[in-house]
Amino acid sequence: MSRGEANAKERNVTLHVVSSLDGFIARKDNSVSWMDSTGVYEAGISISEDEVAAFVKAIDCYVLGSRTYEHALELGWPYGDTPTVVVTNRELPSARNSVEFYSGDLKSLVDEKLAPRYRNIWLVGGAMLCRRFLSLGLVDEIKLTVAPVILGEGLRLFGDSGTEQKWHLKNVVAYKNGFVELSYAATIT
Ligand SMILES: NC(=O)c1ccc[n+]([C@@H]2O[C@H](COP(=O)([O-])OP(=O)(O)OC[C@H]3O[C@@H](n4cnc5c(N)ncnc54)[C@H](OP(=O)(O)O)[C@@H]3O)[C@@H](O)[C@H]2O)c1
Repeated sequence: MSRGEANAKERNVTLHVVSSLDGFIARKDNSVSWMDSTGVYEAGISISEDEVAAFVKAIDCYVLGSRTYEHALELGWPYGDTPTVVVTNRELPSARNSVEFYSGDLKSLVDEKLAPRYRNIWLVGGAMLCRRFLSLGLVDEIKLTVAPVILGEGLRLFGDSGTEQKWHLKNVVAYKNGFVELSYAATIT
């Protein structure tokens, strides 16, 4: 299905982040070198650049919080020309044509702005925006990539939400570099 043909019923919001073993997605100073801390797991798989490219090509749209956006601009934009919505209450400079800004109700963002245009929607952080999406029941899938490192402190992905939610394990992929990807669905399909 091409972009623009999706409808509200078909949209799928995937929350994807990389977490340390102890549940942090960023160091206090925002540095991300910990994501390079690879190990060796012989029984794991590796994927080719072509496979990664095909996977990324299937993503119709990214959604980010403003702090993640600002950090991504500093580090080197990883989202290519894929349409990207940055959620913010501020007037931020638009660094790329593929970026648009959104302020307001997040359910309306998903149901009225994104779902009519995109099917495969990826929410890629940060912690604040992910928590808000989760608390509103706007996430269909969680893909949590666990890095083989304990950071000891930093920005917690889940924090104290105060709400228990049951998720259904759909898949586990262990990579040769020691990272593990856990996939969960909100509902049993
Ligand atoms: N490990 C990973 O995979 C991963 C992934 C993503 C990010 N990160 C890291 O996480 C850190 C950023 O995360 P974060 O939790 O601090 O921030 P964030 O979620 O990226 O951004 C928070 C901002 O989003 C905006 N926002 C959230 N909800 C909103 C709403 N309903 N309406 C309008 N604006 C809304 C606000 O922007 P304004 O203040 O502009 O109004 C808020 O300050 C960075 O260090 C980044 O590198 C790590």
